[in-house]
Amino acid sequence: MSAPHTPVLLDEVVEALDPRPNDVLIDATFGAGGYTRALLDRGATVHAFDRDPDALSSGRTWRETEKNPPRLFLHPHRFSQMFDVMAEAGVAKVDGVVMDIGVSSMQLDQPHRGFAFSADGPLDMRMSQDGASAADFLNSADEKAIADVLYEFGEERQSRRVARAIVAARPLETTGELARVVRNALGYRPHDKKDPATRSFQAIRIYVNGELDELSQGLSAAEHLLREGGRLAVVSFHSLEDRIVKRFLREASSTPSASRHVPMAAQDDPVFTKISKAIKPGESELARNPRARSSVLRHAVRTAAPARVAA
Ligand SMILES: C[S@@+](CC[C@H](N)C(=O)[O-])C[C@H]1O[C@@H](n2cnc3c(N)ncnc32)[C@H](O)[C@@H]1O
Repeated sequence: MSAPHTPVLLDEVVEALDPRPNDVLIDATFGAGGYTRALLDRGATVHAFDRDPDALSSGRTWRETEKNPPRLFLHPHRFSQMFDVMAEAGVAKVDGVVMDIGVSSMQLDQPHRGFAFSADGPLDMRMSQDGASAADFLNSADEKAIADVLYEFGEERQSRRVARAIVAARPLETTGELARVVRNALGYRPHDKKDPATRSFQAIRIYVNGELDELSQGLSAAEHLLREGGRLAVVSFHSLEDRIVKRFLREASSTPSASRHVPMAAQDDPVFTKISKAIKPGESELARNPRARSSVLRHAVRTAAPARVAA
């Protein structure tokens, strides 16, 4: 059986994390376990997180059937909680953290999860399978709140027009209904290169899952958990996410009070060094896995400086 999700930029991620036997690593986004598998194969111990209760199932099978289960620990939690969960597991510092942000192919390809507009399903979009769904939000929020989400998280320039159409069409129950409403509002023609519903679906998904806050908090948790020399690798899928990662690494690698007038305090030392450039998939990966198209990897190495804010 082929893998349900093809790991993106796998060789580059493994090179960035540089896993060695006895390293303790965190895979913050287990998905189908593509990265975790490669890290276990290098002899590392892996603590794998996923907020989707369905996602960790292949990891459970590995634990039951393979001879190295003590090296794999599964945490059905959000990665923003990484610091507390690892403290409970008795782990204070780790050698590497990888985050592969966004949804998996399993989530996208299963219509009942409500992420895709290509197949009809309930308007759900919750990775964690709890809390308010996309339908709960779209059927109760006021028009301005919906427009703000479409604009902020989907960069939809006609957000007000789309929000008005959504409110007029309520109640919306399925992804197909939402896609039709958005396309009608924006005047979609079937031969258009990009489906205009893409931006709205992205926006609503990011909002429903609080994805950008999760990313910021996950990066901060990684800053706390990495030991000196520990490696951070983050794969993101669109510019909103990449902007957060880029800004985090820029600020984490600068020395804010390194001026002639202000003596440099220890807590102002850079917390990350060896910041990579944006690394994108090559032609051969794109030929094998077109879904990798918009992915970007950035990686860095933790210094000895104390973390900047309290955990
Ligand atoms: C792109 S997939 C990861 C694929 C994985 N690298 C692989 O090779 O199979 C992203 C996964 O991260 C999970 N996820 C997204 N946001 C999360 C968060 N804040 N906390 C924990 N898991 C999260 C999703 O449920 C999904 O399973």
